[in-house]
Amino acid sequence: MVLDILEYPDPRLRKTAATVPVVTADIRKLVRDMVETMYAAPGVGLSATQVDVHKRIIVIDVSVARDELKVFINPEIVAAEGEAQCEEGCLSVPGYYDTVRRAARITVRAQDERGEPFELSADGTLAVCIQHEMDHLVGKVFVDYLSPLKRARLMAKMRKKQRIAG
Ligand code: NI
Repeated sequence: MVLDILEYPDPRLRKTAATVPVVTADIRKLVRDMVETMYAAPGVGLSATQVDVHKRIIVIDVSVARDELKVFINPEIVAAEGEAQCEEGCLSVPGYYDTVRRAARITVRAQDERGEPFELSADGTLAVCIQHEMDHLVGKVFVDYLSPLKRARLMAKMRKKQRIAG
């Protein structure tokens, strides 16, 4: 099932996600819906926060062929180094892209959709994407990193769009 994606500046994007204590059948169903929603959008990543479910779950596929799905439940970054600047976009901020500074290489610990713990080291687009999606879980959107002027302009644009959409 394709889920509705919240759009900035929706206040629900500011909620902090809770840890998933057990990976139940309901969680697996949510993961499947998130994956379907991400591919349908299409996007390279999606957090549960963006579909208004405040649990620590993100799904990512940065591959061109769309066949390298990664599911992270309760992700934690255990190591980060270097610096990368990458142009980012977000399914919750449609049509807007800007450069954000992130760690270049990270190691993340999480559970997969079966509840199995794993550790993954990533760099490049995948590392950036994991950091972007994990930000959503603590109520952060990538545009928070922009200058106040850029953010004010973006807010005005998004509000206008919402008015037109009714
Ligand atoms: Ni995003």
